[in-house]
Formats: sequence, C-alpha cells, structure tokens
Amino acid sequence: MKFTSAALPALLLGLSSAVSSAAAAFTPPAAFKNINLVHIVSAEKNYIKETINVLVENIAGTPQDEYYLTIPADKFAHVGGVEVKDRKDAKAGPFSAEAVEDEYIRITLPTPLAAGAQQTLGITYYVLSAYRPLPALIAQDDKQYLVYDFSAYVPSAYETVKQKTEVKFSNSDVPDYTKFEGKEKDLVQKQGAKITYGPFENQPAGALRPVSVRFEFTKPVSHVTRLERDVEVSHWGGNVAFEERYHLVNHGANLSTLFNRVKWAQSAYYNPQTPALKELRFPLRPGSADAYYTDVIGNVSTSRFRSNKREALLEIKPRYPVFGGWTFPFTIGWNADAGTFLRRLGGSYVLNIPFLEGPKQQEGVEYQSVRLQILLPEGAENVKYSASIPSSSIADSTVTVHKTFLDTKGRTAVVIEARNLVDEFRDREVVVTYDYSLLASLRKPIVVFGSVLSLFVAAYVIGSVELKFSKK
Ligand SMILES: *[C@@H]1O[C@H](CO)[C@@H](O)[C@H](O)[C@H]1NC(C)=O
Ligand SMILES: *[C@@H]1O[C@H](CO)[C@@H](O)[C@H](O)[C@H]1NC(C)=O
Repeated sequence: MKFTSAALPALLLGLSSAVSSAAAAFTPPAAFKNINLVHIVSAEKNYIKETINVLVENIAGTPQDEYYLTIPADKFAHVGGVEVKDRKDAKAGPFSAEAVEDEYIRITLPTPLAAGAQQTLGITYYVLSAYRPLPALIAQDDKQYLVYDFSAYVPSAYETVKQKTEVKFSNSDVPDYTKFEGKEKDLVQKQGAKITYGPFENQPAGALRPVSVRFEFTKPVSHVTRLERDVEVSHWGGNVAFEERYHLVNHGANLSTLFNRVKWAQSAYYNPQTPALKELRFPLRPGSADAYYTDVIGNVSTSRFRSNKREALLEIKPRYPVFGGWTFPFTIGWNADAGTFLRRLGGSYVLNIPFLEGPKQQEGVEYQSVRLQILLPEGAENVKYSASIPSSSIADSTVTVHKTFLDTKGRTAVVIEARNLVDEFRDREVVVTYDYSLLASLRKPIVVFGSVLSLFVAAYVIGSVELKFSKK
C-alpha cells in the first residue's frame, strides 16, 4: 500500500470549504437544546448508516412540535431512509420526517413538547455514495480502502451540551483516521473496529469538526443506479409474476491494470476476499417458481435456483467479476402463487408484497432510484395503497391505466418511485386494496373467447372468398 497520510489534510480542506460555502436561507428557530447526544456512524456496509440518539429539551417558552435535523449540504442529495422514533416510548413513533431546504429534515413530534420538557429521539438515516476509494486505482489482488469524511461534532441547528461520535467498521484495519493534538489527544480512541470521537462539551449551534477515516473494505461497493420492479397480478391464472431490471455499478476502486482472467481463474481455487462482485443472492418467498436471469447477452445459465415449501433462493453470477467502475445490468424474474400475497375481503382484495426483494449481501446494497409498478387485474377499481418505506424516500406515486394486448379497459397500475434506499428496507411492505367483481373477472376470458370466435369468422369469410376465387 503506497498511500501516505499526507493526502488526508488535503481531503479535509476540501470538505471544510464545501461546508462553509453552504449558506442556508432558512434557519430553524433555536427552540431546543441537545442535552446529551450519541452519534453512531456505521461504515460496516457499502453505505453509511447513521444513528443519532439525543435527549432534547424545549428551551422556548411555548410548546414545540418541530425539531430540525441538520444534514450537511454536500450529503443531502444522497441521504435517505430517515426514520425517527421516541427511544423511551415505542408506541409513539414513527414520527413524520420531511426534507425542507437543502440542509434540514423537519421532524414532527406527535405530541408537542411542553416548555422546559425533555424527550429522547432515536433518529436513523443512510448516506449513499458515501465513500471514495483511496487509492482510486488498485491491482486485481490488492486490498481496497475507502475514505469517509464527516464531522466529529454532530451537525445541529441547536446547542449541544454533551456528545460523542462512534464510527464502526467491518474490521479493525483502519490505517488512517484524524487524530487530535495536545490536551485533546484522548478525545480520539481506537478500539479494534471502532473509533470514538469525544465526549465533547458545550458546542454551539452549527459547530463542525471535519474528520476523515480510511478503512479496508474488501467487498464490492454495490450501487444500484436504477431498479425497475414489475409485479403483475393475475386472478385468472392465480399467479403473481415478478420481473426486476437492475442497473448496478461497483463504486469501489478501479483496476490499475487490465483484467487478467488467467490470474483470476487461478485465485478462484483459494477463494480470496475480493472487491469485485462475483455473486448475488436473492432470497425469495417460499413457493416461488420459474426463476430466470438474463443479461445484455441473453439467458445466463450460471444461476442456481432452489425452491421448496420453506424457502426459495436465487443465486446469480455475472459472466465476469464486476470490478470498481464496471457496470452490471441484468434482469431476473419469477412467479409466485397468488395465495402467497393476495387475500379476499368481501368484494375487495388485499395485496401485500415486499417493496424490495433485491439481493441480500453481507456487504449491503444501496439503491439510488427504484420504480415499483404493480399491475392489477383488468377491471380492478377503487384502488388504495400504502407503502411502509419512509415517506421522505418516496419521490412520486400514482395510479395509472396500462393497456396491453387483449385488454379491453386497460389494467390499473400502482407506480411508486423511491430514492436513496438500502437493502435494510427489504421486506418493507406495500399494501394495495381494490374492488374486483365477478363481471370484471369474466371480462378477460370473454375477450379471449370473443377474439378467437372472430378469428374463426374471419377464417370462414376468407375461406369462402377463396372458394369463390377457386370456382373462377
Ligand atoms: C431463457 O430460458 C428460458 C428457459 O430456459 C426460456 O423460456 C426463455 O425463452 C429464454 N430466453 C431467452 C431470451 O433466450
Ligand atoms: C473508474 O472507472 C469509471 C468507469 O470507467 C470512470 O468513470 C472513472 O472516472 C474511473 N475512476 C478513476 C479514478 O479512474
């Protein structure tokens, strides 16, 4: 590893100038004080998960129900999955959290906090595209190192009386991290795969302390730029069909030399850790069937699909290992019995499907943009839906009519666009309810039958025309 820590101060300089130039138009009222705050930055996955547990006090003279979370401007576009709850009262949450301006998330407390009263908030969110590989280029069998820049003082619109920040890694190989000098030396502690900054006392609103960590991450940095997930419900076939189109890119370090396939094949014997993506594993619902996997070239046979009453697992391998900077577009699909997801409730139906069923990888997967489209049977009416992913991650949602071959009225589609999600939201549900009558359920077969009949009529007419010709 040829990297020297001399590059770190330069990185920090870049960060602090970015922060200071971000002058916000809106400033939240100084209605709160953070009494005690613990900030946990998990760099264990290929995205950042931040947890802020904070005891807040209302220092305004009147009840308050809006607490503002500060997200640094340079990270704002990459933050998602914000969830807030009361740490002491599970029944109270989740609280609403909506982005305002390009620096704040407004958290609405379900019950206004009385003047002078305190409450413990548990805030979590994710930062995507959070890292920079350093060095940016590595050899095929080199270890990969990533850098994350952040502030050791939690960015806040409020004064913070006491706080500390803990950073967690997937292993203890952390060759570079910002250290403090002189009497502040003990405010940075490394213990195995964890670094603690703090405790810090009495920091004013807006105080920042840029720090940087550089750690080993010998796994792919899998980033899904776009996932299109189509779910098609067929009452007639008793089937729910799934198709997912992924555009995935490895955000890890690029190769410094040309890919050497011989060397790769040789190393495969002892199966070393590699920052290249070699395999993806999709746990599906038990009873899933007919799985397929295609890439830009066509059907790929190097997939394994196991399905029984208890579990279903699709394992796919890219045709070549996906190194840093390389993309991997692919499509998978499968069928499932409608009974797994659909319930009848009088004349209505309730469909309950996972919002995401993407790969489950030890290193994680992040999703920049996801479109879920649920096609309901033709004739479905009075459609209502709700998704249990954080509302701030939903970019758009609509109910539209989608017309396909043999449809007379067109099929109703529920389309939800989401952004900045991670694999931790796998299995969050989307529930769709709709009315569907016997008449509507008969429409499709009648159309099929009707069109077959008109085909016969046409054939008969053509036949008789030909007959006339032949008589000539
Ligand atoms: C892929 O394979 C499946 C089943 O083996 C087949 O039904 C399908 O037509 C193939 N698709 C392509 C694009 O070759
Ligand atoms: C890594 O590869 C990608 C894709 O080819 C390219 O866009 C990017 O600039 C490369 N990064 C470096 C540091 O060379």
